Amino acid sequence: MHHLLKGSAFVLLSLLSASLAQTFSECDPTKRTDCPPNKALGVGNYTIDFTKSIMSDRVWNATAGKVDFEDQGAAFTINQRGDSPTVQTNFYIFFGQVEVIMKAAKGQGIVSSIVLESDDLDEVDWEWIGGNNSYVQTNYFGKGNTTSYDRAIWHAVSNPQEEWHNYTVDWTRDKLEWFIDGQSIRVLKQEEANGGHNFPQTPCHVMLGIWAGGDPTKNEEGTVEWAGGETNYDDGPFSMSVKSVRVTDASRGTQYSYSDKTGSWQSIKVLK
Ligand SMILES: *[C@@H]1O[C@H](CO)[C@@H](O)[C@H](O)[C@H]1NC(C)=O
Ligand SMILES: *[C@@H]1O[C@H](CO)[C@@H](O)[C@H](O)[C@H]1NC(C)=O
Ligand SMILES: *[C@@H]1O[C@H](CO)[C@@H](O)[C@H](O)[C@H]1NC(C)=O
Ligand SMILES: *[C@@H]1O[C@H](CO)[C@@H](O)[C@H](O)[C@H]1NC(C)=O
Ligand SMILES: *[C@@H]1O[C@H](CO)[C@@H](O)[C@H](O)[C@H]1NC(C)=O
Repeated sequence: MHHLLKGSAFVLLSLLSASLAQTFSECDPTKRTDCPPNKALGVGNYTIDFTKSIMSDRVWNATAGKVDFEDQGAAFTINQRGDSPTVQTNFYIFFGQVEVIMKAAKGQGIVSSIVLESDDLDEVDWEWIGGNNSYVQTNYFGKGNTTSYDRAIWHAVSNPQEEWHNYTVDWTRDKLEWFIDGQSIRVLKQEEANGGHNFPQTPCHVMLGIWAGGDPTKNEEGTVEWAGGETNYDDGPFSMSVKSVRVTDASRGTQYSYSDKTGSWQSIKVLK
């Protein structure tokens, strides 16, 4: 599901910016005119506590592997090579807030992630690497553009593999703001993202997942290095735990559709 860099010329790029933008979209509205509209989250905020309920398949699609429900919440576990349990919401939000209370997975080369992703590959990320229990990376991509070197930022966080933290993104037309436990750790103004062009601005669904960035049979060398080195599956299982999720959709529509191929927020039609 993640961007696989092709050719050694791109290894340096991936090392520096961890270019994990997803290149996969079932229908990219900047390339085609026949994409179906996005189903909106809309007026009712979505909240779920995985210590009390499991994921409804009316809300979540498992795109790889399966999620287990344990006392402490939803467990995304890698038991062996090839495992990468990942889910995405069926609904989209067009600006809004995404709050996830979670613990990241341990394990060298293991990547835990929260991703907001649109059909034309705008993306907002939180990523943890299992070999580093004191940092989290934030990142973003506009329209799948992976060419900039300055998007990914590492932030200190206390013991993310053992302690619950509240990771929240507040996304408006003007800025993206990342919070850990209520503290603002990063603000990206719209104009700072390549004059707005690379600012995430189209309806996104929410994805949660874990993958082995440190598996050299599946990733380029630069990705393995970014992920903190090679994964040893004998050290597993590796598990990310999600206690709860809260999502708000600022546009409060029922459907969002692209009226042209620009991928700009102005081109998005909000059906009420
Ligand atoms: C959704 O959340 C927003 C922001 O927290 C709040 O202002 C709004 O009243 C909530 N809406 C509903 C229907 O709960
Ligand atoms: C996702 O879930 C919806 C609703 O259950 C279903 O209609 C759709 O086919 C699923 N999509 C995938 C890719 O599994
Ligand atoms: C964790 O990542 C930060 C930021 O890249 C780095 O400064 C620190 O040395 C890393 N710690 C370990 C144990 O790798
Ligand atoms: C991709 O982003 C870079 C740097 O942010 C920018 O210079 C370039 O024009 C962008 N490419 C496209 C196709 O928008
Ligand atoms: C999580 O952080 C957000 C942003 O600061 C805050 O609005 C929200 O109330 C927090 N959630 C919990 C459960 O504390």
